[in-house]
Amino acid sequence: MLNDSYPYYLASEAVFANQDLDVTNKYTGEVATKVAKADAATIDKAIAAAQQAQPAMTKMAPYQRKAVLDHCVKRFEERFDELAQALCIEAGKPIKDARGEVTRLIDTFRIAAEESVRINGEVINLEISERAHGYQGMTKKVPIGPCSFISPFNFPLNLTAHKVAPAIAAGCTFVLKPASRTPIGALIIGEVLAETDLPKGAFSILPCSRDGAELFTTDDRLKLLSFTGSPDVGWELKAKAGKKPVVLELGGNAACIVDEDADLDDAINRIIIGAYYQSGQSCISVQRLLVHERIYDEFKERYVARVKDLVSGDPSDENTFIGPMIAESEAERLENWINSARDQGASVLCGGTRKGPMLEATVLENVPKDCDVSADEAFGPVSVLAKFSNYDEALQEANDSRYGLQAGVFTRDIYKIQQAWDELDVGGVIIGDVPSWRVDNMPYGGVKDSGLGREGLRYAIEDMTETRLLVIRRP
Ligand code: SIN
Repeated sequence: MLNDSYPYYLASEAVFANQDLDVTNKYTGEVATKVAKADAATIDKAIAAAQQAQPAMTKMAPYQRKAVLDHCVKRFEERFDELAQALCIEAGKPIKDARGEVTRLIDTFRIAAEESVRINGEVINLEISERAHGYQGMTKKVPIGPCSFISPFNFPLNLTAHKVAPAIAAGCTFVLKPASRTPIGALIIGEVLAETDLPKGAFSILPCSRDGAELFTTDDRLKLLSFTGSPDVGWELKAKAGKKPVVLELGGNAACIVDEDADLDDAINRIIIGAYYQSGQSCISVQRLLVHERIYDEFKERYVARVKDLVSGDPSDENTFIGPMIAESEAERLENWINSARDQGASVLCGGTRKGPMLEATVLENVPKDCDVSADEAFGPVSVLAKFSNYDEALQEANDSRYGLQAGVFTRDIYKIQQAWDELDVGGVIIGDVPSWRVDNMPYGGVKDSGLGREGLRYAIEDMTETRLLVIRRP
């Protein structure tokens, strides 16, 4: 159950300002709760507070930052069911997936707590020539400063956590704009952070509309912008971000190769999840399936039968696998892409129709390569089947995309595994599993249009800190 209304967090404090933002139940379409919405003046105040709080945040000892993160872990465990329910309502996420996300939220904060007490530098011997005789260097990591975070709708808790938790570990204050469609997860994180000993002003969590949100990108008091969301928006923000470094976690149209030696039962079990969990609304959802010709027919028959069996409906029902997409407009967009592929000669092997925000789990075949449903990011419950006869060509086909986030390969051949790791132009190659696989300590991010930089706690902390050198001369 959700509260009747939620505040935003300005300079660490809950503010029940004008409750202007309606958050709907994504399955029923009804308004589920009301949320305070920030304007540009409020965002400006939040940035000033983050800047003011930065020296105090920098001074916090690692064990004190760890205590903040440990507190969050404890509170998220205590509030587990409430958090899962919130995701189920605000994102339409099937309850089993919602529980999975809460588990990952807890992992993310736990790993950040561990990392917070091992952010170290190194001793560097500088005596590389006579003129450096008697010199020694040392580095330490210092917080980069106030950070700007923009998080997406598809993992309202865990993709917020991937920004907030490393910032606390690194000692950075922050302002965060959660997705307007799903702000509740981030606001509950704010509620828990407000219980901690973070310096006053260290964080602000401000749902707002896009037009009020310019400052998150353009303001020079902010020293890093980390954005997760759509590629078009992400690259546009980078162009406006000025001097600050930018981390972009953007989209993809992930490929998954199933070679002739794959264990079909296992591969199909995994691909069903990778392509259709939370209605395919993950940047690393399986979209393009490349299957070896010797097993293609059998794979197709068994895969399509399994997809047809997926239970769709109310996400709060324990048996539901396919829930609504985030909005009817998104389901309509993808339905149009499917229809357009069909018009261009694709076969719809199952699914393809829509009722409101509920799009059926869909499998397509013979899709011309330049159709949106193959070439662009579907971000919905659709996979596209294609056949290959030669492994080299399958790798080339997987690379034939403007995106490069993760790719999956089902093979047991060590040489093919090495070749995939060498040749696939992506941020991560997942062998024996789907591209959709992720745990929260691994480096995660893409190449090409899929983004810049890596998340995964240690990697995010790297971006949120500067190396500061100390040189000592022994006269
Ligand atoms: C994403 O959609 O980029 C995140 C996927 C994940 O964290 O599993």
